[in-house]
Amino acid sequence: MSLQDPDQIVVVGAGLAGLAAALAAAPRKILLIAEAPLGEGCSSAWAQGGMAAALSPGDDPAFHSRDTIQAGAGLVDPDRAILLAREAPLAVRDLADLGAPFDRTPDGGFAQSLEAAHSHARVARMGGDQAGQAIMAAAIRAVREASHITVWTGPRLTGLLQAAGSQVSGVIVTEDGRETQIPAAAVILATGGIGGLYAVTTTPAGLLGDGLALAALAGAQIADPEFVQFHPTAMDLGRDPAPLATEALRGEGARLVNASGQAFMAGYHPQGDLAPRDIVARAIHAEREAGRGAFLDARAAICTHFPVMFPAVFAACQSAGIDPRIEPIPVAPACHYHMGGILTDAQGATSLPGLLAVGECASTGIHGANRLASNSLVEAAVFGRRAGRLARTLTRAPTPLQTSLRLQPLAPQGLRQLRQSMSRHAGVIRDREGLTALTQIIDALIRSEGQAGALVTARMIAQCALDRLESRGAHFRTDHPEPAPLASRTIFTLKAGDFARMAA
Ligand code: SIN
Repeated sequence: MSLQDPDQIVVVGAGLAGLAAALAAAPRKILLIAEAPLGEGCSSAWAQGGMAAALSPGDDPAFHSRDTIQAGAGLVDPDRAILLAREAPLAVRDLADLGAPFDRTPDGGFAQSLEAAHSHARVARMGGDQAGQAIMAAAIRAVREASHITVWTGPRLTGLLQAAGSQVSGVIVTEDGRETQIPAAAVILATGGIGGLYAVTTTPAGLLGDGLALAALAGAQIADPEFVQFHPTAMDLGRDPAPLATEALRGEGARLVNASGQAFMAGYHPQGDLAPRDIVARAIHAEREAGRGAFLDARAAICTHFPVMFPAVFAACQSAGIDPRIEPIPVAPACHYHMGGILTDAQGATSLPGLLAVGECASTGIHGANRLASNSLVEAAVFGRRAGRLARTLTRAPTPLQTSLRLQPLAPQGLRQLRQSMSRHAGVIRDREGLTALTQIIDALIRSEGQAGALVTARMIAQCALDRLESRGAHFRTDHPEPAPLASRTIFTLKAGDFARMAA
């Protein structure tokens, strides 16, 4: 297939959402573009827990949807939550049919783990903590075998093409300093999250929110960018990215303790170690700030079974000289997931014709202010497939190209300053003073470096966090510690010149 086919659908990003969209769009011709080799550079492959789906007797999509809504702290769209919960079991079965080796019960059902804020053991897992790798391997195999998909790895997304009426009509990508314009009938952004905007992340650090920034600059509606999830139990090994100690460990009975060995979560929430993720992250932050330290103690609950039950966590511990069978694992919150993103409908369509968004860069209304554990891979599969089906039907813009929008690169020194500043001022705990300082730091960086994707996305996060005068889910303000009486989403469109003004 020629890269210049104007009737093709371009999918940018090859995490599970991008792959699911590309597969579901058959027989439509798909050009799948990813900067890293397939299976690398995306958070999906790093997922440990698995896919939340009501698959066991006694569970029901209504319970899954209720837990999703409750964890989301008032901002989850209930229709989308039930849609996800109803389609989740099928998404798991489809991946199993593609060869994903889910752990099974003796009677052939799906073995399921309990994770925080789930009312049932509902997370379909693989090889204990290998879900992301195994699911991605199955999906990648299917993509490689699909004759309608052409894969192009190497180039980075650096711009968007738009025709009259703002219809997105292609992408600009750059590889080895060479820019290429690629026309498309529609573009599906599957560009992932924003972990690389923070000093320590559990995701690949190259995820800088470029897709989100481009969509915003092109005029797409953006939702809830202030809601950033910090995983409570990233391993505190002085590494970035930080390896994860999956929540499933606490589902199996591991306890959070401080340096004196005292279990502390009961003092913070009635659900103790299995409280919602934002609450556990703040509790760990508080223990550490108070000088008591935070550790995950799996000695009694998992003990000698550790290497078999959680091989990825065990290997990460070993690489740092820690033996979790006989000593607790040091943990600290780290940036893990972006609940906000490009606003979409239930088919992945954004407010701009010709532009769809799936996976972490999208805001489907599922995650609200705080994503429920193991809802991300399942959302990627369900909404990726929906977007692929919609893309089959889309036709190219009737008018020729009118504008091209480009991101500027960000120098390593600027990115370092941004990451430190985001962690300091827009992290687990926020306030007006810090967020105001952050907006000024980012504006100064935009003046010196230009309109880099990381800066545009960070600026939206900082501004919306500053404007949200309440605490809700993952957004906690010490100067506004209570939730507002009415929960409302942040939904906005950048206007022409907004960024120039912010940075002036
Ligand atoms: C985990 O296994 O703790 C992470 C799963 C998720 O982010 O949903």
